[in-house]
Amino acid sequence: RGPVWWQGPARARLLALAAEQTPRYVYHLPTVREQARRLKRLSAVDRLHYAVKANTHPAIIGALAEEGFGFECVSPGEVRAVSGLVDETVPLLFTPNFAPREDYAWALQTRVTLTLDALYPMEHWGELFRGREIALRLDLGRGLGHHEKVRTGGSGSKFGLPVAQLDSFLKLADAHGVTVRGLHAHLGSGILDPGHWGEVYGQLASLAERIGSVSYLDIGGGLGVPAHPDEMALDIDALDAVLRQVKAVYPQYQLWMEPGRYLVADSGVLLAKVTQQKGKGALRYLGVDTGMNSLIRPMLYDAWHEIVNLSREGEVAETLYQVVGPICETGDVLGQDRLLPSAEEGDVILIAQTGAYGKVMASPYNLRDSGEEVVLD
Ligand code: LLP
Repeated sequence: RGPVWWQGPARARLLALAAEQTPRYVYHLPTVREQARRLKRLSAVDRLHYAVKANTHPAIIGALAEEGFGFECVSPGEVRAVSGLVDETVPLLFTPNFAPREDYAWALQTRVTLTLDALYPMEHWGELFRGREIALRLDLGRGLGHHEKVRTGGSGSKFGLPVAQLDSFLKLADAHGVTVRGLHAHLGSGILDPGHWGEVYGQLASLAERIGSVSYLDIGGGLGVPAHPDEMALDIDALDAVLRQVKAVYPQYQLWMEPGRYLVADSGVLLAKVTQQKGKGALRYLGVDTGMNSLIRPMLYDAWHEIVNLSREGEVAETLYQVVGPICETGDVLGQDRLLPSAEEGDVILIAQTGAYGKVMASPYNLRDSGEEVVLD
């Protein structure tokens, strides 16, 4: 399991924060730094970029800039947010997908490293890119990840240029005087098998040999954190060993990565309070004051988040609950079949591992507040 900062002395602080107001997202910056330092042990990796889509809180972006990370952004909004917080020497990647022409035109006026992932921009807007250096995102024909909706390669996915179209892309690039300086692949999110990134590096390197102008290979993010107690943590030293092996074969390329979730997931918790309870058929529902409007991952991906009754630490877990929010959807379930201490109205409920893809995916649905963010340092 990942680090669980909220067990122990932080509990009193969390109870006090919840007493003031719920729902609330709370982020623990030392945990972000700890995860950053774990990844900095990857000796084979030349540059690490934080995929800001996972959590765009300025304190988190600032902490990761201090740790020496670059940033991977997918929209002009993300690029602007990061640019306003870090100095000009910090590397910024811009990896849009099906973005409008204006986004590319805008990006080319800035200092970002731009990644294309289709023939279309080169075919239709080729003059925009004349004389420029770009990276190219490839679809290596397969996807990986914790749920089919987060697999970003293979026939079901909209991302990346299929390798079969590489020659056509290179011809167009040549015609417009565009240099392909980087190759990129990101197969999906929530991957716990370290071998996968070695394969990606090897495949990209052998394609880079054909191209000639490539100097760096970005093997994506996707580093998972164990969610369910049955899952094993990603072994960073094993990942480094795998990467060093392939890099020994192709040492001429810089190796870049762009993790999001790994850096921030465990740093965040969502606090809510018990509202009502209901017995219905065989099921007992425990209502809390926020749901899919704050955290959509359980509904969208059947994601499992640990749920704890912070007010009843140490009490026997004796009641099987369906933990639900107040939103007008049957799918507004935060946790199914959770054995917890018998709860009462007002108890503080903690939903763990919500630092990644939590608040950034929240919505104003039903016009319920999805929760203010608080940072602990
Ligand atoms: N690079 C690219 C090009 C990406 O598309 C992503 C994530 C990342 C890096 C960072 O992936 P990470 O290291 O965080 O796995 N909302 C989903 C995850 C969607 C990920 C989208 N792309 C979830 O809550 O599980």
